[in-house]
Amino acid sequence: MKMHAAVVTSFDEAPHYLPFEVPEVQEGQVVLDVLAAGLHPRVRTGATGQHYTSSGTLPMIPGIDGVGRRADGTAVYFVADDDVIGTMAEKAVVDRRRMVPLPAGADVAKVAAAMNPAMSSWVALRRRVPIQPGQSVLILGATGNAGAMAVQVARRLGAGRIVGAGRDAARLATVPADEVVALGDGPDALAAAAAEVDIVLDYLWGRPASAAMMALLTARSDRSRQLDWIQIGSVAGPTIELPSVALRSANLRLQGNGQGAVSPRAYLAELPALIEEIGTGTITVTPRAIPLADVERAWARPDVPGERIVLTPGTGFNSDEG
Ligand SMILES: NC(=O)c1ccc[n+]([C@@H]2O[C@H](COP(=O)([O-])OP(=O)(O)OC[C@H]3O[C@@H](n4cnc5c(N)ncnc54)[C@H](OP(=O)(O)O)[C@@H]3O)[C@@H](O)[C@H]2O)c1
Repeated sequence: MKMHAAVVTSFDEAPHYLPFEVPEVQEGQVVLDVLAAGLHPRVRTGATGQHYTSSGTLPMIPGIDGVGRRADGTAVYFVADDDVIGTMAEKAVVDRRRMVPLPAGADVAKVAAAMNPAMSSWVALRRRVPIQPGQSVLILGATGNAGAMAVQVARRLGAGRIVGAGRDAARLATVPADEVVALGDGPDALAAAAAEVDIVLDYLWGRPASAAMMALLTARSDRSRQLDWIQIGSVAGPTIELPSVALRSANLRLQGNGQGAVSPRAYLAELPALIEEIGTGTITVTPRAIPLADVERAWARPDVPGERIVLTPGTGFNSDEG
């Protein structure tokens, strides 16, 4: 049986809307009608073959997660099984263990848009460094979708003071942290606001993270007090320079959060609670629905702060006016 899908035929090009064979259903799997799939940064990286999980196989269908409809009409949030047959297609064949039912009436586009960025901080603060009530948090890169949601997630999970740091001043002004710091003001300004935090959620990496790490550790009043640094994204660069003294002269605990750092089982266990938070509006996002048939246009469209593109295979659903 054929379906239509976003198909990557070359890692140098955007996906094309093409017919594709529906994968065979194996034991323990079900076929879903895909309703919406988010175009997350991770999906773009996967479609260029550059993600650390990429096998380099072509053709491939991008998309790591989405919302689908089962044969009984109920909607589920689901996570793709591998990096070759992703979720940006009319149908998805999914392991039953990798799907979570959505409550009746759930906003499909919002769930598809929010789960990936929201999960990054939710899982970090629940599974990597379980946050204690009142602990203070710095979000490095608070102007992106995941960073802005991290402020809401940290608040929901009991954080005390929250500092948000980011590049774009206008977007930073909308971040609901207790204090915001423009990265352009330099590492000393960041240290003045955040040297005493307990946890850093780092979406930047690269030079801003190197500079921030040294500035915070240097300005910290008690360097033997634990500072948990959780590496989550790398929009500012794939590597950092880390002087060895940073690890000897302070109680710095550096770890990452992502696929591999946390087991699939642990991720899945967190999903129902996160879906509920998105439903109640604790975690907010603006989905921008674009028909799957327009995948090339979606790929070319610049990301708008606060929005997340979701591709919608069906017709007559949240059609995009932009
Ligand atoms: N590990 C995980 O579980 C996980 C899950 C979700 C996302 N992520 C990662 O987290 C990162 C952010 O994802 P997202 O969904 O928030 O993406 P997004 O909504 O596209 O936001 C990215 C933001 O990065 C900022 N940025 C880009 N280059 C920068 C630089 N050189 N210096 C400072 N800021 C810069 C931009 O902010 P300005 O507007 O201020 O320029 C932009 O808004 C990505 O690397 C993504 O892969 C990881």
